[in-house]
Amino acid sequence: MTVTSPDRGAHMDTVFTEASHARAAALIREVLARSPVEEDAGHAENTLHWLLRMEPSADAALRMAALGHDIERAREDRLQRHSFEDYDTFKAQHAELGAQIADELLQSAGVEAEVRQEVARLIRRHEVGGDPRSDLLKDADSLSYFDHNLPLYYRREGWDETLRRARWGYQRLSPRAREYYREITPDCAQLKQLLAEVAAQLE
Ligand SMILES: [Fe+2]
Ligand SMILES: [Fe+2]
Repeated sequence: MTVTSPDRGAHMDTVFTEASHARAAALIREVLARSPVEEDAGHAENTLHWLLRMEPSADAALRMAALGHDIERAREDRLQRHSFEDYDTFKAQHAELGAQIADELLQSAGVEAEVRQEVARLIRRHEVGGDPRSDLLKDADSLSYFDHNLPLYYRREGWDETLRRARWGYQRLSPRAREYYREITPDCAQLKQLLAEVAAQLE
């Protein structure tokens, strides 16, 4: 069962109190609502949920980065994995382009330069981490893949690719995030089994 639902966004609006931050969050949500990737709008809200679960006092830059980290994927001409030599290069380009798109969007919402730069930095690092704040975003994103994206990903990509993606995702989790992972119980028995097996194999 998904811990949060996509419509949790309405509730989460209360965490953006500054006018420019609320505008930026609304713009990000508008873009994601049009994403051709089915899970994206819900994944953004669910990543924000996990971020606040792991760090209830996460600041505005972290919260905006949680919402907007995959904004690159919301484009019709989004990057395609098969155009890249390997998965990590694909993810690195996705993060870089997403940081640029988010920066422009936040600028149009009037977000101050300091916060904007931090959001772009976090998005640039969301796939790899490397410092406590980026690691936190990476954990929230990774947990949300399992909590929200997994059933939709499985339906679209099939078993083998979902297993590969789940192993890749599990390896990115910090020890603390692996504790939260155990709470995630998909409705589908096969996926429940997949999560248990991935954890058992990689622990
Ligand atoms: Fe991403
Ligand atoms: Fe993501």
